[in-house]
Amino acid sequence: MVDARSGSPRPEPVMEPAADLAEAGLRLEVDGAVATVVLDRPERRNAMTFATWRGLARIGRSLPPQVRVVVLRGEGPSFSAGIDLSMFSGGSGESLPDGSDFAASDAFIAELQEGYTWLRDPRFVTVAAIHGHVIGGGFQLALACDIRVAADDVKLCMKEPALGLVPDLTGTKPLVEIVGVNRALELCLTARTVLAEEARRLGLAEIVVPREGLDDAVRELVGSLLAVNPGAAVATKRLLLEATENTLAEQCAAERREQIGRLREMAEARRQG
Ligand code: CAA
Repeated sequence: MVDARSGSPRPEPVMEPAADLAEAGLRLEVDGAVATVVLDRPERRNAMTFATWRGLARIGRSLPPQVRVVVLRGEGPSFSAGIDLSMFSGGSGESLPDGSDFAASDAFIAELQEGYTWLRDPRFVTVAAIHGHVIGGGFQLALACDIRVAADDVKLCMKEPALGLVPDLTGTKPLVEIVGVNRALELCLTARTVLAEEARRLGLAEIVVPREGLDDAVRELVGSLLAVNPGAAVATKRLLLEATENTLAEQCAAERREQIGRLREMAEARRQG
C-alpha cells in the first residue's frame, strides 16, 4: 500500500482491539468501505480523555485499506461534552502538563492532535453525525471532519476560552475557514451556544435534519459518497484541501496534475478491459 500524499510505502494496518478502544470510550465498526467511530461513554456525555484522543489516532492508523468513508457519531443524548473535566485534576492518573517544559508540553499536545489530523487524510471522506451537546474538544472533532450532518437538537459551543484555554485540537483553522475570523472570534470568546439553524446558516453543518432522521440522513449521504469513483474521490479531496493555501496558479497546476492522474488511471482501466 502507498501513502496517498507522499507516494511512499505505508505499513499494513493492524486493527485496534475492541477492548482497548472501549477503555478509551470508543467503539469502531467497519463494514466494507465504511468505518463508524462511536464516542461511547454516554453516561459521561461522551466526555473525552487523553486515552480517547490517543485511541482516535490509533484508529486512524489502523483502518483497513478498503475503508473510504469514516463516520463519527456519539452514543446517548450528546455527541460529546468535550474534555473530561477530571483531566484537569489528574483524574486519569495523568494531568494536563503545566507548560513548564515547553518541548514536553508541545509533544504532549501534538500527540493528542493526531487524534484529529488523520480525519483530513484524502484516503477517506469523513462525516460527523452530530446531535445534542457538541462542546470544546467535541466541537473540534466535528470541525476536523469533511462534512457535518447535524440533528436539529444540536448545540455547538467552543468552551475552551471560558476555561482559560485556547482550542488546541486542530479546530481553529477549520473554524476560521468556515465562518471567517470575526465570527470565529465572537464564537470562541463568548463561548456561546450555536443552535441548529444558525449552524446551518454559518456553514458549521452542511445538512440539518430532525433528530430522528439523523441516521437515515447519514446513511443516504454515505451511499452517495460511495457511488463516486474511489480514485476521483481521493484526488478531489486532496485538491480541495490544497485550494485555500494555493495561489490560483498553484491550484491550476494542482488541477492539471490530478486530472492527468485520473486520465492515466482511466486509460489503464480501459486497456485492461
Ligand atoms: N467531563 C466529565 N464528566 C462530564 C462531562 C465532562 N466534560 N460532561 C458531563 N459529564 C458527566 C456529568 O458530570 C454527569 O455525571 P453524573 O451523572 O455522575 O452526575 C453526567 O456526565 C451527565 O451530565 P449532566 O447531568 O450534566 O447532563 P446534561 O445533559 O444535563 O448536561 C452538559 C450535559 C451540558 C454537556 C453538561 O454535562 C456540561 O456542561 N458538561 C461540561 C462541559 C464542559 O465544560 N466541557 C469542557 C469543554 S472544553 C474542552 O473540551 C477543552 C479541550 O478540549 C482541551
